[in-house]
Amino acid sequence: MEELTKTLKGLGLESVPQEPNTYPELNPFDIYRSHITELLAEVSGVDKKIIYPTLAWTAKPENGDLQLAVPALRLKGKDLKAYAQELADKFPESPLVKKPVVTGTFVGFFFKPESLTSIVLPLIFKAGKSYGFNNSFGLKEDGSKKKMVIDFSSPNIAKPFHAGHLRSTIIGGFLSNLYEGMGWEVVRMNYLGDWGKQYGVLAIGFDYFGNEEELVKNPIGHLYDIYVKVSNIQKDEADKVKALKAEVAKDKEEGKDVSAKEAEITKIETEGIDEKARQYFKGMVDGEPKAIGIWKRFRELSIEKYKQTYARLNIHYDVYSGESQIKDESMDLGVKVMWEKKVCEDSEGAVIVDLTKHSKKLGKAVIKKKDGTSLYLTRDVGAAYERMQTYHPDKLMYVVASQQDLHLAQLFKIEELMGWKDISSISQHINFGMVLGMSTRKGTAKFLDDILRDVGEKMHEVMRGNQAKYEQVEDPEKTSDTLGISAVMVQDMKGKRINNYNFDMDRMTSFEGDTGPYLQYAHARLCSIYRKAIDADPSLEKTDFATVDLSELQEPHAVDLIRQLASWPDTFLNTFKTQEPTTVLTYLFKMSHAVSASYDHLQVVGSDKKVNVARLALYVAARQVLNNGMRILGLSPVERM
Ligand code: ARG
Repeated sequence: MEELTKTLKGLGLESVPQEPNTYPELNPFDIYRSHITELLAEVSGVDKKIIYPTLAWTAKPENGDLQLAVPALRLKGKDLKAYAQELADKFPESPLVKKPVVTGTFVGFFFKPESLTSIVLPLIFKAGKSYGFNNSFGLKEDGSKKKMVIDFSSPNIAKPFHAGHLRSTIIGGFLSNLYEGMGWEVVRMNYLGDWGKQYGVLAIGFDYFGNEEELVKNPIGHLYDIYVKVSNIQKDEADKVKALKAEVAKDKEEGKDVSAKEAEITKIETEGIDEKARQYFKGMVDGEPKAIGIWKRFRELSIEKYKQTYARLNIHYDVYSGESQIKDESMDLGVKVMWEKKVCEDSEGAVIVDLTKHSKKLGKAVIKKKDGTSLYLTRDVGAAYERMQTYHPDKLMYVVASQQDLHLAQLFKIEELMGWKDISSISQHINFGMVLGMSTRKGTAKFLDDILRDVGEKMHEVMRGNQAKYEQVEDPEKTSDTLGISAVMVQDMKGKRINNYNFDMDRMTSFEGDTGPYLQYAHARLCSIYRKAIDADPSLEKTDFATVDLSELQEPHAVDLIRQLASWPDTFLNTFKTQEPTTVLTYLFKMSHAVSASYDHLQVVGSDKKVNVARLALYVAARQVLNNGMRILGLSPVERM
């Protein structure tokens, strides 16, 4: 606070303006909002508590940096237009803001550029990596951190990692970073689809088609291949039985002998894949060591492989959970409560919950099958209970495609009806639309690794297009991989989550338009400006940017960029409300455009030293903000490309 106090004294303010729950050291806009609030309270007599929250961002820059909607002051019996004018006229001379501008019943305030520059840049240098973030928002009253358990990615073993999982991974990674940036403790959880009869099918398939070496080398691909092959046999067998049964019926009518056909049916029904898988899965449920052992190995090898892929996306999990991990006791407890609270009922031997009483849309949900086995939904009830017991979270997030809107709506409603409001009230489904036409160059995409490799190769081609630059890049292989991943991620986060989008390899890998490579380029260019400035004048390397004289930064381009940089903490705060990655991305693109518009006007070499240093400070600050924003999204900013 000391330095900020000094800066503001220098501008002519006695103390740092600070309304309750504001953070002048972290957010420049807080200073201006508090300051304007104080002055408006003086001239209007309205309570500061009412004024502060009505000071809002403007849609158009010509309306000011902040705007007061006079009607929101809730003043009775006043001509609001005239009063807006009166407020503007009475508004005193201020070191931070210019004379207010009135449009209708709005009063607009413009920040004085000199004040903005001297406040914002030092603040950015001081906060550095954490500029924009604010740990206070994650604190509970007792000072401990709020905690979120976030279930995301959650693919199914031996099945394709499809676009829905990719989006869940990207969006979930972003939300985890977002909450951490707000001071929350985040438990990243991968809830694998790893339980059910299909894992019996898989184990049987491994007996037929498995190859130990392949399994270790490429578990995900190999298990998938096996699963496809064995499921086909399973399906053929089922078709065969159906056909035979029809023939038997017909033959019987015609008085023919059916014993051979009946024997064949029995053989398939007792020795076929389906029955073998059923028995195998029963072994897993009963905890037979052999059955469990094989399945566990599949699971563990798959997780090892997933970990490598997630690492490429900057994602690390705290827990690899999964449907298999949910204890019978938790599910039994859930079903017991459902009976007690009369939430469920018997339906021909199965247990179901009829939610149509509450909403037609919610339909009926099966909780236990006739043979007593649990389902996806049952396991989610048990899983939620266990998450509460283990972590005592303040929020439970499920990042799952909107195809599962019904499933999660059912889950939350059932929990509520069970009286588990402590769970349902903190649960949130973060949904998202589909990716259309996701394919690799070799065909339809099945695995995340194939997609990332493909996009990386494409980026490599694009990079080779500029041979001179290409030669400067230390590890082109790695850089193109990073750029490819950025391309995929930015394309995914660009629109609102709920929108579908087209997987468009050419578009996403382009340097033009709002793409991942564009952002990376903007970052690399800022890094290069710094390198070049140091090359030209090595004495600059020791500069303490927090203390340089910024008075030279008066050009409109500089002021515009500083204004952008000032609004990053508010943008971050707003992102916490929208929970949309596009809120961050839109900001970063706008800010990067402001940076690139500045280059021609604000050159760092060639002017006099004082000007050079001030401009360099501006670019260093811009790089910091871009870097912070990119990291929140889960991107790895590159320094050269
Ligand atoms: N494994 C599921 C699927 O691929 C997603 C699981 C989402 N999480 C949950 N708790 N249901 O469809």
